[in-house]
Amino acid sequence: MDRIVVRGGRRLKGTVRIGGAKNAALPIMAAALLGDSPSRIRNVPRVADIRTMADILSALGARVEFPSPHEVVIDPRGLGNPTAPYELVRKMRASICVLGPLLGSLGRARISLPGGCAIGARPIDLHIKGMERLGASMRLSHGFVVARGDRMRGGEVFLGGRFGSSVLATANVLMAAVKTPGVTRIEGAASEPEMADLAEFLKKMGARIGGMCTHSLRVEGVRRLAGASHTLIPDRIEAGTYMIAAAITGGELELKGARPDHLGAVIDLIEAAGVSVGALRGGLRVSGAGRRRVVDLATHPYPGFPTDLQAQMIALLTLCPGISVVTEKVFPERFLHVPELNRMAARISIEGSSAIIRGVRGLSGAPVMASDLRASAALVLAGLVARGETVVDRVYHLDRGYENLEGKLRKVGALIERVG
Ligand code: EPZ
Repeated sequence: MDRIVVRGGRRLKGTVRIGGAKNAALPIMAAALLGDSPSRIRNVPRVADIRTMADILSALGARVEFPSPHEVVIDPRGLGNPTAPYELVRKMRASICVLGPLLGSLGRARISLPGGCAIGARPIDLHIKGMERLGASMRLSHGFVVARGDRMRGGEVFLGGRFGSSVLATANVLMAAVKTPGVTRIEGAASEPEMADLAEFLKKMGARIGGMCTHSLRVEGVRRLAGASHTLIPDRIEAGTYMIAAAITGGELELKGARPDHLGAVIDLIEAAGVSVGALRGGLRVSGAGRRRVVDLATHPYPGFPTDLQAQMIALLTLCPGISVVTEKVFPERFLHVPELNRMAARISIEGSSAIIRGVRGLSGAPVMASDLRASAALVLAGLVARGETVVDRVYHLDRGYENLEGKLRKVGALIERVG
């Protein structure tokens, strides 16, 4: 099992190229099933989750090819199997986003329940509610969600849940609605940039969608969709991770391809912590040389501060003099990185869904264990500034969502390597 070894103390300096958004790629790859011809998607990140989605689409009967490292072609014409198998779904919760396209294409779906994961229970009640509002019959049987949509009609659905909007429930209802006769209105829809990118792709396929980038979507069902070509938006979470890498090491990074308009809350809070952020033509410049300041933040659905950068932000705040408070409003239990950071001499306590962070003068390197994709990134960031050596175990979590993290960090001066 691979591990990452980091030696702290280097200020990062140089340029990092930001890749395509994993969380746009996954629903858009699934959406290709709705077409009656092949789709070509560019700027696809080379991460494990993309391979897993490719394997799921192949299991359903589609033909999936990677003509070049960052490009995938999906031919849906062999689609015929409505079952997404447990052995693939259990590897990636996002597999649930084949539900909408299967209903839209085959009128039926049988998907292994995703189950929970390190960041908390991952219910799908909003997905089920949305499909039922479109006339599908949904039942849970032997660990599978079984859907039948013989007579689906457009409908109205409110998708706001206890923790706000749901990204993949929005994606699923949108993808089920685009070929469903009638008009569908989705209130309380997720407005993440990845959802706008999905809607953009669906419109290129011939879908009729209004309200993109808002919490209210309107879909007019059409009879057929064609395959389309699409280039994914950059990954705002990867960009935010490198912004925090510059901040935590007191270095200076240029992030090529980052989109400031997708990072408003992140820029606001990183600047509040004493880090300067400047817009560049085609990217961002981040300089961590300034004096650190404490911040209080809460994660929220977009355009709020993203839960996927909460762990990385906590790593930065461990070194801000004073007391910071980080409240997790989206996945209230998403704090498995905290005990590992405390093993590196951070001083963090958890009170309910809030982390209370007392700034320390420095962190010390230690062997630590990754628990989920973003927690593992946070541990690497802490290792960049900790005294001595940090060994991050179970980096397969990292490989799910970051392309060549250690290579990109080494290129800007980090003492970091992967050991088998
Ligand atoms: C997407 O997951 C992302 N994954 C997650 O990124 C991200 O953390 C999350 O959105 C929130 O932004 C992908 O896009 C592939 P949700 P998703 O449904 O759609 C509750 C990463 O690191 N909820 O928006 O599964 C849920 O429990 C991953 O890249 C219900 O209650 O998340 C959570 O508390 C991790 N019922 C909240 O809503 C439902 O039916 C938001 O979850 C669905 C969700």
